[in-house]
Amino acid sequence: RVPTKFSNEPLTDFSREDNARKMRSAIEKVRGELGREYDLIIGGKRIKLAKKLQSVNPSNPTEVVGVFQEAGAAEVEPAMQAALKAFETWSRTSWEERANLLFRVANMLQERKFEFSAWMVFEVGKNWVEADADVAETIDFAYFYALEALRLSQAKTPIQLPGEVNTLKYIPLGVGAVIPPWNFPCAIMAGMTMASIVCGNTVVLKPSSDSPAIAAKFMELLEEAGLPDGVVNFCTGGGRSFGGNVVNHPKTRYIAFTGSKEVGLDIHEHAAKTQPGQVWIKRTILEMGGKDSIVVDADADFDAAVEGVAQAAFGFSGQKCSACSRAIVDERIYDRFIGALRERVAKITVGDTTKNPGMGPVINESSMKKILGYVEKAQQEGGRLILGGVRDEEAGPGYFIKPTIIADVAPNATISQEEIFGPVLAVMKCRDFEEGVKIANNTEFGLTGAVYTGTQDKLDYAAQEYFAGNLYLNRKCTGAMVGAHPFGGFNMSGTDSKAGGPDYLLLFTQAKSIAEKV
Ligand code: NAD
Ligand code: ALA
Repeated sequence: RVPTKFSNEPLTDFSREDNARKMRSAIEKVRGELGREYDLIIGGKRIKLAKKLQSVNPSNPTEVVGVFQEAGAAEVEPAMQAALKAFETWSRTSWEERANLLFRVANMLQERKFEFSAWMVFEVGKNWVEADADVAETIDFAYFYALEALRLSQAKTPIQLPGEVNTLKYIPLGVGAVIPPWNFPCAIMAGMTMASIVCGNTVVLKPSSDSPAIAAKFMELLEEAGLPDGVVNFCTGGGRSFGGNVVNHPKTRYIAFTGSKEVGLDIHEHAAKTQPGQVWIKRTILEMGGKDSIVVDADADFDAAVEGVAQAAFGFSGQKCSACSRAIVDERIYDRFIGALRERVAKITVGDTTKNPGMGPVINESSMKKILGYVEKAQQEGGRLILGGVRDEEAGPGYFIKPTIIADVAPNATISQEEIFGPVLAVMKCRDFEEGVKIANNTEFGLTGAVYTGTQDKLDYAAQEYFAGNLYLNRKCTGAMVGAHPFGGFNMSGTDSKAGGPDYLLLFTQAKSIAEKV
């Protein structure tokens, strides 16, 4: 099935019994495969190491999802050599051949959607809807980048000079380090990898140590789809010891990273240092954190605003770069809004995601402690706890935190400025819409944002003044769709690469202009 026009993969309706049954059976299948050991894959060869790392189920941390090799500095050179060797041939394959690989990947993922979702249910604690959306986005990236590649292959110069044939060719860059986060463990990992290879680059892929199993499954699928040896080298391992050393390697041509601000800036700094033997300026594609707000006006559709804030703040336990972590509400409706929001959020069920609750755990113990630390700090700084604020012991042995709302948070308080990455929402008051947008802009980040208002002039004002890479008007600030909402942030949220947009593949290529005298 090769489309000529892109359309988004439909999301699965789990209220239909046939879909729910398929999901339950995928969960049982994957349960039977937990605990397996996975090798590094370098140049097509399976490699075991003495040092291992384990991935565990955050809903039930004694359950081992998989055992992985822990690559360090010693594995960087073999991975780089394999990627360089594969680049010799892969860079010379046609755009069509590479796009066809992605079409095959998309088709295979469509057939194995439930199974891929089930891996995410176990490995990162996504509920079924969130896991399904992650796989759907992966399928979208595969089709979208394949079609974009075919479009780029037809690039033309705007002008033809008399007496010359003028050509513009987009050629690959070289070997890229692909370093994804754990929170969209399929879509972002696969998206950066597929954008790389469809442009003719080869890759050293270092998945997050919190989500290596999903990456291993994707690597298996790539191989089945016909990926030649060495085009993607699958290396689980240490962030700094392996990832950091790939970034530093003189033969690394670019780094495609998505993750925290701290690591992104560290990569940026290291990539900027020219190493002996390096003959290019490394390119960095860095998508980082957010401190995203929703501004609610007094004349907004009240129920829609409450629902949008609840979904954007607590979807996947608030562990999205796009999550609403601040609701900035007009003082005229502030108390009523908090009451309605409390009532809505109190209904969110929390538990083991194999059973598809409203909300699952947070990713690991250190994250849980960090999030609860923010809740404490918020109260010390004058915030008023409305709901939650503690571990949810009844939800199970995992890293469960009750959905948390803290009101009366000052615009410059710690939880108003730092990314929490958990189910914690700060609510604050504004005098009017304009002040609300000013508060929304008062952080170092600039990823997503939304406003709810019934006034067209105010929507226009937000469109002009709200400084965010992805702005939403009268809808929630999560759930960007490939093609419709090219995704990437301003300021400390990153290099605004706009994944899923028409400019994305340009970041993975360089343009060569050729003029032939005739
Ligand atoms: P993280 O920065 O801790 O890790 C991301 C990746 O970097 C991991 O694979 C990790 O192993 C690797 N790494 C760690 N130290 C490294 C080093 N010194 N050199 C090279 N690689 C290193 O982020 P995370 O916890 O996996 O993900 C959550 C973060 O990602 C949040 O801040 C979130 O906002 C952000 N995020 C951003 C986007 C976006 O599109 N802007 C999307 C998803 C997540
Ligand atoms: N792309 C994801 C969203 O929009 C992060 O929610």
